[in-house]
Amino acid sequence: MPASIQPASWRDLNAVRRLEQICFPRDMWPLWDIIGVLSLPNIVRLKASVNGELVGFIACDIRRVQRVAWVATVGVLPEHRGRGIGAALLLESERQARMTYMRLNVRVSNRNAIHLYRSLGYQEAGMWPAYYQDGEDALLMEKRVKY
Ligand SMILES: CC(C)(COP(=O)(O)OP(=O)(O)OC[C@H]1O[C@@H](n2cnc3c(N)ncnc32)[C@H](O)[C@@H]1OP(=O)(O)O)[C@@H](O)C(=O)NCCC(=O)NCCS
Repeated sequence: MPASIQPASWRDLNAVRRLEQICFPRDMWPLWDIIGVLSLPNIVRLKASVNGELVGFIACDIRRVQRVAWVATVGVLPEHRGRGIGAALLLESERQARMTYMRLNVRVSNRNAIHLYRSLGYQEAGMWPAYYQDGEDALLMEKRVKY
C-alpha cells in the first residue's frame, strides 16, 4: 500500500517520538524539541502514513529572510525504507516551503541519506567538523529550488 503524505501536528507526538528514537539512536532530540517542531510556527511538518500508522516524518524550518528551508529532521521506519517515502517527504516539503534553497546537515557516514539527497539534486556545500556529539563531521548539502 502506498504511503500518504499529510501535515503532522502535536497529535502525532507519541508516534514521532517513537520514530525519532528508532531512526536517531545517537542523535535523539529532547522531548521539548519534538514538541516544538510539532507546534511552533514557520515549520513545514509532514508525516507519511501506511494503513493509518505513522512511518515517516520530516520537519523543515522556514527562514524567509535567507529564502532557506532547513531540513531539521527526516526519518522513515526501517521496515518502510527504500520505497520512496523519504524522497516523497523531501519533495513535498520543498513544494510547501516555497523557498529558494533547501539545506540540511548529514553525517558523513550516512551513505543511504547522502545517496538520496544527491539523487534529488542536493549538492555538497560544506563540511562542519565534529558537528555531532560523538565527534563525527557533518556534510552540509544544499539544493536550489525553482521557487
Ligand atoms: C534517509 C532515509 C530518511 C531515507 O528514507 P527512504 O524512505 O528509505 O528513502 P527512499 O526510499 O526515497 O530512497 C532511499 C534510497 O536508499 C536506498 N535504499 C534501498 N533500500 C533501502 C533500505 N532497505 N534501507 C535503506 N535504504 C535503502 C536506495 O539506494 C534508495 O535510493 P534509490 O531510489 O536510488 O534506490 C531513511 O533511510 C532513514 O530514516 N534513515 C535513518 C535516519 C536518517 O539517517 N535520516 C537522515 C538524517 S540527515
